Formats: sequence, C-alpha cells, structure tokens
Amino acid sequence: MSKPKVLFVCLGNICRSPTAEAVFRHKARLAGLDVEIDSAGTGGWHRGELPDERAREAGTRRGYSFAGQTARPVEQDDFEIFDFILAMDRRNRAELLSKAPENARHKVKLFLEYGTSSEAEVPDPYYGGARGFEHVLDLIEDAGDGLIRTLQQSP
Ligand code: 4NP
Repeated sequence: MSKPKVLFVCLGNICRSPTAEAVFRHKARLAGLDVEIDSAGTGGWHRGELPDERAREAGTRRGYSFAGQTARPVEQDDFEIFDFILAMDRRNRAELLSKAPENARHKVKLFLEYGTSSEAEVPDPYYGGARGFEHVLDLIEDAGDGLIRTLQQSP
C-alpha cells in the first residue's frame, strides 16, 4: 500500500478519537511507519474545540502529544481519502456505514478489532470519571499496537 491513511472516529471528536490520533502518531513514529493520521466525530457540536482537558491530561501523562488537534465532523470526502476508517463504538460504526458510499464500506471497522481485549468498543468517557480516560488509553494503546502490526505486514 502507498502511504496508508487512517481516520479515527468517535462521537464528539474531543475524547476518544483525539486520544487514538495522539497515541497512534506516537506509535507510528516509533515504528518508523509513514502514515497519515487524522480523527473526526460523527457529530459536529464540538467543531473547532481542543480535545477534552481530561483526555489531554491523561494522554500527556503517558507521553502523548495532542498538538495541533481541533475537533471536526466526518465529511463525505473522508470516505475517498482514508484507507482505514476506525470507529470507537458500534454506534459510530453504524453512523459511518449509513453515510459511506458502497465502494468505501469495507474501510469502516471497529478500531478494537485490531486489539487483544475482549471488549469490542472504546466506552464513551465523557460523562464518567478519570478512571474512564485511563481505560480508554489502555484499549487504544493495545489496538494501536495491533494496527501497527497490520500496517507492517501490508505489502
Ligand atoms: P467522544 O466523547 O465521542 O469520545 O469525543 C464525547 C464527547 C462529547 C459528547 C459525547 C461524547 N457530547 O455529548 O457532547
């Protein structure tokens, strides 16, 4: 594959998918992989906002950078541009599939399909406590490692 392009998608693009973007940028750089990485939300209410402070604090403590990230909604062009469109939960995946053109449906997956956890979804931490953000990071780090391995195996 030429330079792969990965889009992480959650609901608001302020908690889970910005965290996935930050974690995966770090992992891709360490692995020496040339990957284009972005994130977006199926909802547009937080357009232009920085990632949630709780997500930034938890991620920064583990050494990830959220530099340059602002929230944006998924756009129709994303289905053409990106090779991997990775939803944080089933609701996000259903929303993406409802908008995806036929020739892009295969790009839409649950991100945790690349992980080793028995959990299929990254739970929404927005209304919960700090522990939720740590759990989000644990799941994202694990699935991120799996996605790195997948990209390393692609021709
Ligand atoms: P995210 O979390 O989808 O991980 O960014 C949420 C952020 C905002 C809202 C819900 C979830 N909200 O309802 O505004």
